[in-house]
Amino acid sequence: MAELKIRFDFNSLMSERLGEHGIHYSQVERSGLPAAQAAEWFYRQRAKGRMDFFDLPAKPEHLKSSLALARMLKGKFTDLVVLGIGGSALGTSAVHAALNPFTYNHLDKKGLKGRPRLWVLDNVDPEKLKSVQALLSPKTTLVNVISKSGATAETSAQFLWLKAWLFKSLGPRWKNNLVVTTDPEDGLLRQIVREEGLLSLEVPSGVGGRFSVLTPVGLFPLALAGADVRGLLAGAAAMRRRTLEENPWKNPARLYALMQYLLYQKGYRTNVMMPYSDSLYLLADWFRQLWAESLGKRLNYRNEVVESGPTPIKALGATDQHSQIQLYAEGPRDKVVTFIRVEKFRAVLPIPRGYPKIRDLSYLSGHDFGELLNAEQRATAMALAKNGRPSCSFILPGIDAFVMGQMIFLLETATAYAGGLFGVNPMDQPGVEEGKRYAYGLMGKHGFANRAVEVEKFEAGSLQKYIV
Ligand code: PA5
Repeated sequence: MAELKIRFDFNSLMSERLGEHGIHYSQVERSGLPAAQAAEWFYRQRAKGRMDFFDLPAKPEHLKSSLALARMLKGKFTDLVVLGIGGSALGTSAVHAALNPFTYNHLDKKGLKGRPRLWVLDNVDPEKLKSVQALLSPKTTLVNVISKSGATAETSAQFLWLKAWLFKSLGPRWKNNLVVTTDPEDGLLRQIVREEGLLSLEVPSGVGGRFSVLTPVGLFPLALAGADVRGLLAGAAAMRRRTLEENPWKNPARLYALMQYLLYQKGYRTNVMMPYSDSLYLLADWFRQLWAESLGKRLNYRNEVVESGPTPIKALGATDQHSQIQLYAEGPRDKVVTFIRVEKFRAVLPIPRGYPKIRDLSYLSGHDFGELLNAEQRATAMALAKNGRPSCSFILPGIDAFVMGQMIFLLETATAYAGGLFGVNPMDQPGVEEGKRYAYGLMGKHGFANRAVEVEKFEAGSLQKYIV
């Protein structure tokens, strides 16, 4: 696919379509001050090295290191297991799901063409872990441990588990089957890399976990799984050029953030991302973390308590039309839907002719399944607009690496820019850190004993209200 651009259709957010429920052009024009402040804030943060994700498409070193290692390891393993959580896992899963077939792990040797099956173990549920392990052989499994901090309990436990498994079967050769992706200098994992002489890649220190899919965090496993990571970065670079535009009407990232911000002020506190494509469902999963963890904050950057942030929800079209749309169309007026529509699917699947005399069935004949899916999306957007419910659509010419790079970069930039509009720091996650410290305490980590005591007192002190 030649370098095709994604389009942002915001018509169904505007008052021309939605009346009092929509945004008026003058509101966007009047938002000049917060928009300018957000832009200024964005540039200041960049200057301080806190927005390094924004310069990733222009930095070839991460692509180079990821491709070099992937080339070295290519063909040597039947399975690649990614150990990581949150920002260290969701981007890889999203791009893999978009670019590789739904049945990738079920392909035979010929179908896989030397690529390993990919398992992204983003949780510590022992049932899932053991069932995946049962399919693997230590000799032919490459483990990629990914943690920027090098201290996350879930990833550390996974690392200990698969390291012991590799060691049991391979002895000292376990090191050939493990790659660590972590901070270039700091953290426990970097220390272990140095001490054990392990293969490793770097997560640039100025790039936060949820903004890191275009670093070796995503690039290395995706390259091994055969994704076109060059195309991914080229798409991101093309979108970066568009997001440098000051005028929000010409800059999809700014306009998306601004519209979401204005709608939030009107009471639309929930942002539903709804791709009409199974391949893009995990993109909505990735975005859910990006939007939630970046914008949900107690304090603004003047340290005032604001407790603000839009709630992201993911839904899948057309499946969730039969689950969620009733609520979105008639329930509380607190949701804005972000549709993603794919103009040209990679598969053509005509609906066969049949029962010509039954008109209520035969009307489908001769159409394509992709056409049906898109008709469902347009119809849903129309029905929502008729009820005065705001929605917007990202329209993708098709799904390929270049398009995915554009989407990822657009949504990352929109999120960072929305941080400026909401007046919060989109790069930190103090609310998550607090929970991590209590978990350390409960698991007996040195220095966190008082946290465990706090939890135990808290639980014992509550009225024991259980139904047994
Ligand atoms: O976006 C973030 O910063 C988080 O979601 C992290 O990616 C997640 O907590 C995992 O952290 P780490 O990569 O340090 O193990």
